[in-house]
Amino acid sequence: MSTDWKRYLDNLALGTNKTYPLINPHTREAITDIPECTNNQMEDAISKSNEAFQKMKKLTSEERSTILDNAARLIAAQKEAFARTIVLESGKPIRFAKGEVDRTVETLKFASTEARKLEGESIRLDAAPGGAGRDAYTIFQPIGVVGAITPFNFPLNLVAHKVGPALAVGNTIIVKPAEKTPLSSIMLAQVMDQAGLPKDAIQVITGDGPRLGKILIDHPDVAKITFTGSPDVGKFIKSQAGLKKVTLELGNNSALYIDNSVKDKLKDVAQKVVVGGFSYNGQVCISTQRVYVHEDISEEFLQHLKVATETLVYGDPNKDTTDLSGMIDEKSQQRVLDWIEEALNEGARLITGGEVIGNGVKPTILTNVPSDSKVSCQEVFGPVVVVNTVSNAEAALAKMNDSQYGLNAGVFTYTLPQAFKFAHQLEVGQVLINDLPTLRFDHMPYGGLKSSGYGYEGIKYAIREMVNMKFISINYQF
Ligand code: SIN
Repeated sequence: MSTDWKRYLDNLALGTNKTYPLINPHTREAITDIPECTNNQMEDAISKSNEAFQKMKKLTSEERSTILDNAARLIAAQKEAFARTIVLESGKPIRFAKGEVDRTVETLKFASTEARKLEGESIRLDAAPGGAGRDAYTIFQPIGVVGAITPFNFPLNLVAHKVGPALAVGNTIIVKPAEKTPLSSIMLAQVMDQAGLPKDAIQVITGDGPRLGKILIDHPDVAKITFTGSPDVGKFIKSQAGLKKVTLELGNNSALYIDNSVKDKLKDVAQKVVVGGFSYNGQVCISTQRVYVHEDISEEFLQHLKVATETLVYGDPNKDTTDLSGMIDEKSQQRVLDWIEEALNEGARLITGGEVIGNGVKPTILTNVPSDSKVSCQEVFGPVVVVNTVSNAEAALAKMNDSQYGLNAGVFTYTLPQAFKFAHQLEVGQVLINDLPTLRFDHMPYGGLKSSGYGYEGIKYAIREMVNMKFISINYQF
């Protein structure tokens, strides 16, 4: 079986007379026309999703698990087609696009496993005065229609992170994908149908994010909104969602500390920072953005980092040898260039990069960057790494925590007490000791503090936010 996003788009086009052009980010050429779905189409999707929920909630755990497992196998079998679609619409180089497909397969397998495991607990009511003579326990039940609003940067796996948990527990889902990358999510929906999912249990509605997203947020028949994107939109969603459940995965200006105890590994660490800072042009929520290096080793580290950065190859994302290609759009490219220029005017020193390359930006390293420069205090979402020197670990900790964000942070150190101190005192959701902040396994909890988010993803943890817990007590002395 194979997927065919054209067929899905043709079907959506029956309900609207408007389209918008989908642009290849690397070549900036038009790929196809995407239906600009109407409000009625979204409302119709919600109504169908509600009908499908009546079937979904009756499936057994085993049936839901099997569907997810089937979907994982179908995607693995079509890895090349999925990866090429990611390249086409997002400009992600093929090596990384294939990596995203592999991760999606894992994400769905984890969802399949969790579908069999959602267990409540038994509660001893006789621990309270007057509670004797009862057996009590909790169960988890699906909540209904989930509205997923997803970003451009992982157009398949970050959709799977919402679809997998929603379906694992018997919900239905409507995906409003990023306008710039709707095709991968359509392929995912088609695979789910082929895997045996009840009709309309997953639907993709393309078009304008704010307009269509607002319908999902306002509609009484949508039980939950799960969103990955910017803090401003996240805060808006939370302010509008009333009593709906909401999960928000927002940005970060991810920080890393490199201690002088790891002096013997500087070349290795520099190589890792190149991967963490410049993969997919830094258009990743946990891209390594702020690096704090102990002053004893900073010059040597910067030299290694410069050399490794300058080996990166810019070019056609369809080639296996390409590391970097065009940014998602001209507006993002220009914003990143403006922020670099601003930092230089504010006293930063350019180590490498800082200029246009094709439709992208050369991988850029800046040092001596003031902490209030945008490239440091905001999320760059571009190929820029800021390297500043610190005199000790305490100073690094203070600088890392001096941020409006709190998603992932990394520390390289051989000193155990120092590692524990960072682990306890970093104000983030995930601390990675002897790894970059740019680290995520698909089953680990993943959630941000401060402006980085609300609630958790990572299949098991996402599921908890997509169910209603019900308490049941049986008075056997009645
Ligand atoms: C993100 O950019 O939001 C997610 C990063 C990842 O899943 O690796």
